[in-house]
Amino acid sequence: MKKMWSGRFLASASNLLDEFNASIMYDRKLYIEDIEGSLAHAQMLTHQKILTKEELTQITDGLAQVKSEIESGEFVWSIHDEDLHMGIEKRLTAIIGDAGKKLHTARSRNDQVAVDFRRWVLKRNLDIIESLKLLMSEILVVANEHTQTLIPGMTHLQHAQPTNFGFHLCAYLSMFKRDIERLQDSYKRCNVSPLGCAALAGTPHKIDRDMTAKLLGFDSVSVNCLDTVSDRDFALEILFNISTMMMHISRLSEELVMWSSYEFSFIELSDEYSTGSSIMPQKKNPDVPELLRGKTGRVYGSLMGLLTVMKGLPLAYNKDTQEDKEGVFDSVETALISLEILKEAIKTMEVKSHNMQSACSVGHLAATDLADYLVEKCGIPFREAHFITGRAVAKAEELGIDLSDIEFKYLKEIDARIDEDVLEYLVLKNSMNARTSAGGTSTVRTKEQLEFFRKFLKDNKQ
Ligand code: ARG
Repeated sequence: MKKMWSGRFLASASNLLDEFNASIMYDRKLYIEDIEGSLAHAQMLTHQKILTKEELTQITDGLAQVKSEIESGEFVWSIHDEDLHMGIEKRLTAIIGDAGKKLHTARSRNDQVAVDFRRWVLKRNLDIIESLKLLMSEILVVANEHTQTLIPGMTHLQHAQPTNFGFHLCAYLSMFKRDIERLQDSYKRCNVSPLGCAALAGTPHKIDRDMTAKLLGFDSVSVNCLDTVSDRDFALEILFNISTMMMHISRLSEELVMWSSYEFSFIELSDEYSTGSSIMPQKKNPDVPELLRGKTGRVYGSLMGLLTVMKGLPLAYNKDTQEDKEGVFDSVETALISLEILKEAIKTMEVKSHNMQSACSVGHLAATDLADYLVEKCGIPFREAHFITGRAVAKAEELGIDLSDIEFKYLKEIDARIDEDVLEYLVLKNSMNARTSAGGTSTVRTKEQLEFFRKFLKDNKQ
């Protein structure tokens, strides 16, 4: 088959080459961006008197027909056309004739693909932000109901101090807020137009890059053509941003898996978002959070893949760069479905507050409070207070009880400076509510944090 670039070739390409070289089977996803990019380019060429008004009308109508053929499934995608850029241009020329052949004036596939892919990534960046906001709203609803629900706060997966479940969820809200901000920041940096960079060095045609940038919604035009046609930072940024977001999702997922176990029984995922076992009839498995945890791996893989593709590439465009798309497509799809299903799983799960609270009655969660009491009320240096508290914990262990249930007489025996008001400090709810320092777990502080996230979502309404 005759290629668009076949002028200097004597023999035609082998089928094997066509199959190996083609990106059309996946880059066709960019057809809207490609057509919009061509329309903007043609408008600018007309404005600059490089194309006539009649030619612009033909191109505009022709591209509208191509678009409808693609959307109705009539359009023939062929690996012999190599990529969507050539496939669309070939069909356009078949429909409108010579005007179609003029469209590529002052343009190269190198800037064309950079425009299409960048715009696709920028749009998906906004979609991911919107999904993150919906997830945050759902977490906020649950967190708001549980600002008094005690849950053991852990370090090293060991009971540490009593917190409340709302506060625990606020930790995830903090992560997802940062994910949104990272995407917003990346959007601003990447919203720069590559169009008009042509192959690598610009063009002698009198083009207007500001005009096409504006038509396509870019904030500005790129500064250096050589960099622009080979720059894939925008793709790396979204992969990194999705990777970080999936890392956060995987951490929450891990907790959902643990909390669903009999050993924890802190939550129960709804039947709608749980699965059964093919052999064990009693099973209800948390496949959703497990898969979310697992899918994080493929996203990291795409990030590492593209970093490796880009490593050591000489300027400017190299065909290696064609390997930039599939990992990004897959990661974006993974991100969007992950956010959606996580939101639904959280919305429909049952929170077993009672079990969370009873889990607090083991592990001596109030130990730090006893030490704090000794410091605050008895003027004992913290190190010494730590030691005395350790002895109180040992006593509780010996009695087979939790420190929060110890009788006053035992504490008095350990240190005569302790008064009866110590018992107030050992009540778990009081312990949680005592942590009133900024960002702390007390119900008052947790409510402040929820208000902060509510305001963030309000300020970031689309
Ligand atoms: N299909 C190519 C890609 O995705 C488009 C750019 C091709 N440019 C070239 N000079 N061969 O990267």
